[in-house]
Parts: sequence; structure tokens; C-alpha cells
Amino acid sequence: MKEKKGPKSIATINFKGGVGKTTCTWCLGDLLSTFGKSNVLLFDLDAQMSLTQAITLNEDGSLVQQFQTWADKSFKKKKTIFHAIEEYTGAGNFNFGVNYEFIYQISDRYHFIPSVEDLYWLALDVIPRDKMQTFMRSLLAKITWSTNVQNYDYALFDCPPSFTLLSYSVLSVCDMILIPINPDFYAAKGVPLILNMLQMQIEPLPVPKIGVFMNKAKPYGGGMTKESRFYWDSVKDVCQKFSKKSGIKIQCFESPIYDRVKIKRAVTTGGVPPEFVSDFKSLWNNIERFINE
Ligand SMILES: Nc1ncnc2c1ncn2[C@@H]1O[C@H](COP(=O)(O)OP(=O)(O)OP(=O)(O)O)[C@@H](O)[C@H]1O
Ligand SMILES: [Mg+2]
Repeated sequence: MKEKKGPKSIATINFKGGVGKTTCTWCLGDLLSTFGKSNVLLFDLDAQMSLTQAITLNEDGSLVQQFQTWADKSFKKKKTIFHAIEEYTGAGNFNFGVNYEFIYQISDRYHFIPSVEDLYWLALDVIPRDKMQTFMRSLLAKITWSTNVQNYDYALFDCPPSFTLLSYSVLSVCDMILIPINPDFYAAKGVPLILNMLQMQIEPLPVPKIGVFMNKAKPYGGGMTKESRFYWDSVKDVCQKFSKKSGIKIQCFESPIYDRVKIKRAVTTGGVPPEFVSDFKSLWNNIERFINE
């Protein structure tokens, strides 16, 4: 049988909360689907459901109603990500059918798999870890081969600020892990913790490529403030040392996303605010080069 190429997959992760995982994943997806004309599939893997709620609570009334109706049907037809996991880890075969009751279409090219409250059960590890490891690989294969949905160029995963079985499943299959960090004292201290944890959890499988960038960099003149630069330099130093010691490929992208008030509404208004477009375009150029290396 001819091989069919699945989407390039990127998981945004940081065990620190509030660094901008959800915002940046959303914005990158939006940018890729609009400016990049790519087909993008976005996953909300966080039981907190920030991304899913942001879409549900859109200020544009029509989408709220449309999403609500879709979500009710998806649940009734047992087409949520939780149902997929349940079937995958159950005793029978994995016959879960992929269609648009499982995948929500935000726009022609931007599609979405929402989170559901039941994902909390996964945080409690009630499902055997070994079984979950291959879940996302199998699900992505199903999506790739399905004739009911379009082909996706990219799969983006918004991960929770903790290590769940679902993150475990994603991190063992994705092409790249994207780590946003903020300009604060804890960034440089926290990065080795994340990297060690990722390596420990994913072993014996190889750790995917890792890309790090600064989100909420404080702008000054045409660049960032001295303070933000100092924190960024510390993070780069830590990454370089970790990379040397572990042999894991880590790229620190010299394309910060600046701290701007406007982004507070980025997800709810459905698009990347104009003042952020060039930040995200530069970041994407670096990510794309790295992921295709
Ligand atoms: N570049 C930015 N400029 C200004 N505000 C930002 C920026 N990035 C994110 N924010 C804001 O910071 C807050 C946290 O962002 P977000 O929810 O994306 O973080 P997170 O890492 O996904 O959080 P969690 O760990 O809870 O999942 C939000 O209010 C968001 O609007
Ligand atoms: Mg989040």
C-alpha cells in the first residue's frame, strides 16, 4: 500500500501555568491556516478546557450557538476525544470512526478537537500507561487515512500545565515539542526541570526535537528590554548545557512574542490581532525551518 503522509505535529508544553501555551498554539494555528493556507488540526488536551471555552464563549454569538449544537451532538454520538480513548484502551478493537462529529470546523482550513471534562480521569491515571502510549499515534493514523475528513498539514496540541497520560501519548509521537517561557527569574531555573522530566517520561523512546521561545517579552525600542534579554540569555545558556549533556536537539528561537495588551482577546475574537502577526510569522519561520531540518 502506498504510504500516506500524516500531519507534522507540534506539542506546546510547559509545566508552568499561564506562560501562553494556549494563546500561542491558537495564534500559530490561525496564522498557518490563514496566511500559510495550510490545513491545521488543533487539539485541546487540557481538562481545564481553556481553549475550548474560549471558542464556546466567543463574542461572535453565531459561533457559540454553532459550537454548542455541535458539541451536544458529538457527545451524544460518543465522538469526543474521551470516547476515543475509552475505546482505544478498552478490551475490543479500536474501530472509532473519524468524521466531522469528532472534528469541529472553525473555518475551512482550521479544525479543532475540543477538550471534555472527562479528561480529568486521565489525570488520575486510571488507564494503564503502556496502553496510552500509542493512542495518539493510532488516532493520527486514523485521521490521516479517513476519507470523511480533509488531509491535515499540521497537528497542533495544546497541552496542560501538568504531565498527563494524554501528554505522554502525544510527546511520544510528535515531531516537535514547543516550549514557551516568560521573562522571569524562574524561567531559566524551570527549563532544566521540564527537559529532565520530558526525557525521563518519554524514555526509552527518543525525545522529539525541542524548540524554545520567549512569550510576553517586554518590548523596548525595536527589540526587548535589557531585563527580558537577560532572562532569555540565561535560558539559552541552560538549554545549550542540557543539549550538550543529553544529546537532545534544542533550538532557542530568536523570535520573541511580545507582551501586548491586545492578545488578551486573541482567542475569543478568532484571529491573531494585527500587531502580533509579524511576531508569529517570524516565530513560525524559525519553527518551520527547524521541524524540516
Ligand atoms: N504575548 C502576550 N501578551 C499579553 N498577554 C498574553 C500573551 N500571551 C499570553 N497572554 C495572556 O496570558 C494569560 C495566560 O495565557 P494562556 O492561557 O495562553 O497560558 P497557558 O500557558 O495556556 O495557561 P495554562 O497553564 O493555564 O494552560 C492569558 O490571559 C493570555 O491572554
Ligand atoms: Mg492553556
